[in-house]
Amino acid sequence: MSTTTLLDRTDPLYDRVKTLIPPIEWPVFADDIEAILQLKRERDAVILAHNYMTPEIFHCVADIVGDSLALAREAMKVDAKVIVLAGVHFMAETAKLMNPAKTVLIPDSRAGCSLAESIVPADVRLMREHHPGVPIVTYVNSSAAVKAESDICCTSGNALKIVESLGADTVIMLPDEYLAQNIAAQTRVKVLTWAGHCEVHERFTAAEVRALRTDYPGVTILAHPECPPEVVAEADFTGSTADMSAYVGRARPARVVLLTECSMSDNVSVNHPDISFVRPCNLCPHMKRITLPKIRRALETMQEEVVIDPTLTDRARRSVERMLEVR
Ligand code: 13P
Ligand code: SF4
Repeated sequence: MSTTTLLDRTDPLYDRVKTLIPPIEWPVFADDIEAILQLKRERDAVILAHNYMTPEIFHCVADIVGDSLALAREAMKVDAKVIVLAGVHFMAETAKLMNPAKTVLIPDSRAGCSLAESIVPADVRLMREHHPGVPIVTYVNSSAAVKAESDICCTSGNALKIVESLGADTVIMLPDEYLAQNIAAQTRVKVLTWAGHCEVHERFTAAEVRALRTDYPGVTILAHPECPPEVVAEADFTGSTADMSAYVGRARPARVVLLTECSMSDNVSVNHPDISFVRPCNLCPHMKRITLPKIRRALETMQEEVVIDPTLTDRARRSVERMLEVR
């Protein structure tokens, strides 16, 4: 097929991302995009993409986009035979837990997460031993093996609701210390923490937020709850990636900062060309392992397939299901 024809065919997709991708770079993406769209039809596949995927993935090949909570929920509704999870490994594991009979592919299985890597099942068992009877709420940013040792999962979008749904005066929240502290500040429930951190969000500082307010008077500052509590205290709003996106659509600030991963501002800005995004972002090296050529290769080769130890599946799924049952 000639290049001109390819560019004509992908022009409506380019239109979605033209504010972010210069025309000279588009031909590099267009070939992979067209191939992926074709492969999705051939393989009966859908692509679930996290909000941190780069715009050409998020806006041009994804079928379902969202935060961790939305991806877990949507994974349960998928009809297609194959799910490609454009995100990190724990997200692909969650999709597999909710769909044991489907093929779940991750374009690069090395796409990890510093939070998921901060804790192993033996740590959870030890916490339970030290705090008998205290419910264990585990952030979805964790391995299936850790979920299997937990009572219930939570995401950044529902953590407060989950903690308060348990009717306990004390809970253990693993493994994100800052998320746990940020939730503790909003509830009377005593929250015991673990010293895991997100390597992306832990780098934001309160001094940086104050400097942004000086440099951009009137700016609205939104922070992800994986940021340290002193950063959250300086922000105007705190919420999951989906909550931040919804806030921008609702409040329509003239100028906004999203204290989170870099692709968030890119993806949200596409729908709000009139809003000015100030971008002191941090890149997640794990999320950035997922690229269009790797998604294409995953669909061509049907690799890498996510496999979960069958002795863990039921217990790990139960922790996710309990979370999804809390409304
Ligand atoms: P969300 O669930 O808010 O999208 O967060 C996932 C994540 O990995 C944030 O760093
Ligand atoms: Fe994990 Fe942080 Fe990357 Fe999210 S941004 S995947 S929490 S390292």
